[in-house]
Amino acid sequence: MKKILVGLFILILICIGMVLFNEYILNKNKMDVPKIISGNTYNGKKLYSLYCLTCHGENGAGINKMGPSLANPQYLKSITNRQIWITTAYGRKGTRMGPSLKGLSGARQLKKEDITDIVSYIRSLQSINKK
Ligand code: HEC
Repeated sequence: MKKILVGLFILILICIGMVLFNEYILNKNKMDVPKIISGNTYNGKKLYSLYCLTCHGENGAGINKMGPSLANPQYLKSITNRQIWITTAYGRKGTRMGPSLKGLSGARQLKKEDITDIVSYIRSLQSINKK
């Protein structure tokens, strides 16, 4: 009986350890992403023209050898606002797509709200292209 109790106790300790470790890993890689990504598309378009157009083209059409199309309906269907937000904010390591979030090492130092506005603008390209 004692052996079973000790065994159970060790099992519980292992479980707690695993939960804590998981939390630790999650926190270490934590990205600060807003829960709701819904912003001002007008401001987003303005910021897009300033910061993204040189590589991603007019209305997100993409520019050969510079940046991929963002307005592609297939692309927009397959990606969530959260994923666009993360790529915009944190960039893609090893590519010309640098980070945009304020405080990171990129050339753009955008506020979180500004990134949300840009993502909303990119999302709005979906309906523009359907017309
Ligand atoms: C210096 C050129 C450059 C600028 C400026 C730039 N990008 Fe990019 N962007 C790229 C490249 C190159 C890629 C492709 C990266 C890769 O190979 O995965 C990319 C990828 C992306 C992707 C992912 C596309 C996909 O197919 O998954 C998003 C979203 C994006 N950029 C948004 C933006 C936004 C928003 C801005 C402005 C705030 C911006 N980018 C500014 C070059 C740029």
